[in-house]
Amino acid sequence: MGKPCKTAILISGSGTNLQAFIDAVDSGDLDLELCAVFSNNPDAFGLERAEKAGIATACIQHADYPDRESFDQAVIAELDRFEPDLLVLAGFMRILSPRFVTHYAGRILNIHPALLPLYPGLNTHQRVLDAGDEWHGSTVHFVTEKLDAGPCILQGRVAVLPGESAQELEKRVQAVEHRIYPQAAGWVGSGKVKFSKGESWIDGAKAEMPRVVTFK
Ligand code: GAR
Repeated sequence: MGKPCKTAILISGSGTNLQAFIDAVDSGDLDLELCAVFSNNPDAFGLERAEKAGIATACIQHADYPDRESFDQAVIAELDRFEPDLLVLAGFMRILSPRFVTHYAGRILNIHPALLPLYPGLNTHQRVLDAGDEWHGSTVHFVTEKLDAGPCILQGRVAVLPGESAQELEKRVQAVEHRIYPQAAGWVGSGKVKFSKGESWIDGAKAEMPRVVTFK
């Protein structure tokens, strides 16, 4: 067996997805080495989760830098100390500069709370309710320079329930995220899924569509 893929997780907030990675690695379900947790927000609860799990943490605040470029350069320098093979954005609420994306080309994953290409951007749960959609969910995708538009790997979807609030829907979608994100990252770590020529490839075939799993 090869060495597990060294994975840095980037967060800005609560870190429930981070926790799902920690739990999956601890239980032996996920063969990744969580080498660092990085936050742009010193108050992110996810930093406490990481410390409790014995994972190295790092924090750089964007307010300390004059622009996105210089902040991203500082983050690159910090992350590279850990020599990550893979970056997992887990509620990292910063838009990445082209330089950052190029530096880690094909090695950055994001999870977005919508069935991309539907609803890039913010406030997805309310937008789904407002539109009266039948389905909602979350998407794991490779990060490219265009926001929420990189090639998709895995989607988890749930049926929208009559009368549910945006908060209730968000909670159900987050539970789905905790299932699909470690799974998709494990696929990348094991080489089952690769990024090449701007596309995602699953088991050696170009993935025109993500894998879709329906949850109750
Ligand atoms: C997750 O639901 C994730 O999909 C979303 O932030 C939440 C972070 O929760 N990400 C985005 O909206 C990115 N555009 P967590 O801190 O509890 O993992």
